[in-house]
Amino acid sequence: MRIDIITVLPEILESPFKHSILKRAQEKGLAEIFIHNLRDFSEDKHKRVDDYSFGKGAGMVMAIQPIEKAIEFLKSQRDYDEIIFTTPDGKLFDQKEANLLSLKKNIIILCGHYKGIDQRIRESMISKEISVGDYVLTGGELAAAIISDAVIRLIPGVLSDETSALTDSFQDYLLSPPVYTRPSEYKGMKVPEVLLSGNDKHVDEWNHEKALERTKKLRPDLYKKYKGESD
Ligand code: ADE
Repeated sequence: MRIDIITVLPEILESPFKHSILKRAQEKGLAEIFIHNLRDFSEDKHKRVDDYSFGKGAGMVMAIQPIEKAIEFLKSQRDYDEIIFTTPDGKLFDQKEANLLSLKKNIIILCGHYKGIDQRIRESMISKEISVGDYVLTGGELAAAIISDAVIRLIPGVLSDETSALTDSFQDYLLSPPVYTRPSEYKGMKVPEVLLSGNDKHVDEWNHEKALERTKKLRPDLYKKYKGESD
């Protein structure tokens, strides 16, 4: 899978892809991530990428020209399955969306900034608008990193234990059960007996029961989805 990220702040995206699992995914050739500086596509002599907004709204708006040029340049090289724009008024990102995106071959993520991008770009070039939460970030870069991270880890072969992505919280709308490691007793607090029993069937049953219990208590909204009471 290839992800092209277009941003006015490439520096913010330098670190997230250089470590641990995301780094290894690239070394293994399972994911390719390219960061593009939007300013490189600006035809303005000062390399500006924004302009004043029409109407009464205060603040700057990302202009059409550099964005269109950047997207057209990438599209001239290969086909893209999705052109995503990160914005707080987009559709809320969730595990289901991450699963869908992990099946794609090439995606572009355009990071929003300032007051947003010219609406005509949103209408003509963007296929998906995604928000990572109901709060406003200073820019879309961290959102792009979150989306990329959640998606790349689902690509087969990226996680060393292939089954671990399948048992994540949120797959099947259930939170994960609690986990424990050594010591089996700490300050009088014991690891549940069943986890030390070596009986796989009992462990699976316990895990499922705890997942149900936690989801019901901590995320009643997810529990409803699990029960098929909403989508
Ligand atoms: N840009 C600013 N806030 C954002 C959010 N919550 N999600 C995606 N992009 C954003």
